[in-house]
Amino acid sequence: MKITVLGAAGGIGQALALLLKTQLPANSELALYDIAPVTPGVAVDLSHIPTAVKVTGFSGENAKPALQGADIVLISAGVARKPGMDRSDLFNINAGIVRNLIEQVAAVCPKACIGIITNPVNTTVAIAAEVLKKAGVYDKNKLFGVTTLDIIRSNTFVAALKGKQPQDMNVAVIGGHSGVTILPLLSQIPGVSFTESEIESLTKRIQNAGTEVVEAKAGGGSATLSMGQAAARFGLSLVRALQGEKDVVECAYVEGDGKYARFFAQPLLLGKNGIEARKDIGNLSAFEQNALDSMLDVLHKDIELGEKFIQG
Ligand code: NAD
Ligand code: LMR
Repeated sequence: MKITVLGAAGGIGQALALLLKTQLPANSELALYDIAPVTPGVAVDLSHIPTAVKVTGFSGENAKPALQGADIVLISAGVARKPGMDRSDLFNINAGIVRNLIEQVAAVCPKACIGIITNPVNTTVAIAAEVLKKAGVYDKNKLFGVTTLDIIRSNTFVAALKGKQPQDMNVAVIGGHSGVTILPLLSQIPGVSFTESEIESLTKRIQNAGTEVVEAKAGGGSATLSMGQAAARFGLSLVRALQGEKDVVECAYVEGDGKYARFFAQPLLLGKNGIEARKDIGNLSAFEQNALDSMLDVLHKDIELGEKFIQG
């Protein structure tokens, strides 16, 4: 199994690379790429950790050497938010970065599963899909917007509020990855109930958790370590599924049946070819149904922005 991280010298990229170096199965390969010249050095640094995972590092304008033979490509290249910014404010810079990197993925490893971390995820995934389509290699079962951070945050906050073990929680989060499009399905957590005001405040906190980190870092960037953990969880789940493990389920933002929006985050059964099945989102509470109905305008606009960026 070969995993390539694009943006590997950044805050997320380095945390993610460390977790993958220590947790990938033996005899895997980890390739790191970033425009930053330090990237081969990051690979040398990691290579001194005694696990049977081969690490290589590449920098400069060309991502292709890192992409040769990749089974999974995780992309965190791009700029992060500063206080006062929305994720959509990152579009102007990150849209072009994602387009350029996906063009290289399409040329070198068109059959790889791709996880997009770069914000605004609601839009960058649409950009990636259109670039892959243009190149004639789009497989909607292999392109994911990584929303796992919303799940692990929900697990943490619910466990803290209800006196549970965070590792026993697995909250489904649907919709997209920004503000009101992030919808945790609190009504579906087995054995846990909430008051109306708890549901309102918890939902808001989960939707606003990225901003909580951006403000706490006071201009020093956004979530990197929790995101590294989230991306590692998602990447390792994909590895297990690609290697034939059954019953691997993760939520991610993918192209589905279009019932709510062309791209929509929902629970997915992963398998040897990427997405094996899109799972139903189940019964929603009245609060969740209302939140779902109200997010769709935003989600559609975010997606259209990405589609138009490529289609012109
Ligand atoms: P960072 O600034 O620490 O790292 C970004 C890295 O990308 C840098 O090392 C930079 O050199 C590299 N880069 C820039 N342009 C590149 C290019 N063309 N090719 C290759 N590498 C390039 O930022 P970060 O904190 O790691 O965040 C990265 C992205 O992830 C941001 O867009 C951020 O908003 C997003 N993010 C997403 C989630 C999520 O849940 N999906 C969570 C946190 C952050
Ligand atoms: C997050 O949720 O932490 C990321 O999307 C980064 C951000 O800008 O909030």
